[in-house]
Amino acid sequence: VCKGADGQTVVIGLAADSGCGKSTFMRRLTSVFGGAASPPKGGNPDSNTLISDTTTVICLDDYHSLDRYGRKEQAVTALDPRANNFDLMYEQVKALKEGKSVEKPIYNHVTGLLDAPETIQPPKILVIEGLHPMYDERVRDLLDFSIYLDISDDVKFAWKIQRDMAERGHSLESIKASIAARKPDFDAFIDPQKQYADVVIQVLPTQLIPDDNEGKVLRVRMVMKEGVQYFEPVYLFDEGSTISWIPCGRKLTCSYPGIKFFYGPDTYYGNEVSVLEMDGQFDKLDELIYVESHLSNISTKFYGEITQQMLKHADFPGSNNGTGLFQTICGLKIRGVYERILANQKNATTLESAKA
Ligand code: ADP
Ligand code: G6P
Repeated sequence: VCKGADGQTVVIGLAADSGCGKSTFMRRLTSVFGGAASPPKGGNPDSNTLISDTTTVICLDDYHSLDRYGRKEQAVTALDPRANNFDLMYEQVKALKEGKSVEKPIYNHVTGLLDAPETIQPPKILVIEGLHPMYDERVRDLLDFSIYLDISDDVKFAWKIQRDMAERGHSLESIKASIAARKPDFDAFIDPQKQYADVVIQVLPTQLIPDDNEGKVLRVRMVMKEGVQYFEPVYLFDEGSTISWIPCGRKLTCSYPGIKFFYGPDTYYGNEVSVLEMDGQFDKLDELIYVESHLSNISTKFYGEITQQMLKHADFPGSNNGTGLFQTICGLKIRGVYERILANQKNATTLESAKA
């Protein structure tokens, strides 16, 4: 394998169902790496790829082997592995990781057809996002770090309604029907991937309001695997302890129903994990600095970087609650993982040339 001078491409996997905040997460992530990502210039306007100086984000829908009509004919959903070409996905992610460009297909979300391929150059950081980044063992083994966005059914429903009704003109009935139709395949093929993720961000209804059914206030949990190379879980106050924290008071303004943090060890699919949880929402985002100052292992480069990122993108969905906070922290941790892999590669190269 011929590695470039800058080292091998670092590959990140982001798994979630569609409409669960992957694009928002990607915008927060590329911002942490310093620079917004945009579609390839002069290419297919329906390309799903996003490119910035450091990062290329590939949407795994591009590896659909069956287009919308093929899926209909064979009665399989996009979530079904039979509608996806994992051999090609593996070959191309592997090639990119080895520093070779690829001709990646494009799944056109407008027409539902596969368009002519586009050339993808190997980036410093490759993010593969979509339904199945951790499904195929060969692809999974190529990932340097992986995240699963686990949106509970209630919350998923609320978000889908917001987007598909308001922005795409679907009816309530059709949204309900499409969620129900996806559910068996979602449970069989998408959900099980969370056991492989280094970080799972769970989004649940609040526990601060009894019998809440509005789905506006959220309880968000960041489940972080222990013992992952280049990654140390974030902690609150004291590493390894179990802590409940209500930061509301003199330094943090909270209106009803308030804010509650939790931190502690747990097990998840048989793995040891640390969990950081936030229930509720911020009234004044600039006061987040108070919470940030109590978190450790956050991989920031200066004091207040989390708060700065959150303020910068205050208009993104979830900026006033744990979804935005944990996505931002996750972005910083990914930058940390990337920098450590890079440092390690440089060390290895120095050692090699010293030996020669
Ligand atoms: P994906 O890329 O997975 O399809 P998006 O990031 O485009 O998801 O988000 C889809 C929609 O879900 C958004 O337009 C918004 O309505 C809703 N949404 C996403 N993330 C959040 C969040 N953290 N809080 C509230 N709504 C959200
Ligand atoms: C993409 C999305 C899927 C979605 C599909 C629509 O593949 O990632 O989540 O279900 O498009 O498929 P359809 O068969 O309804 O066109």
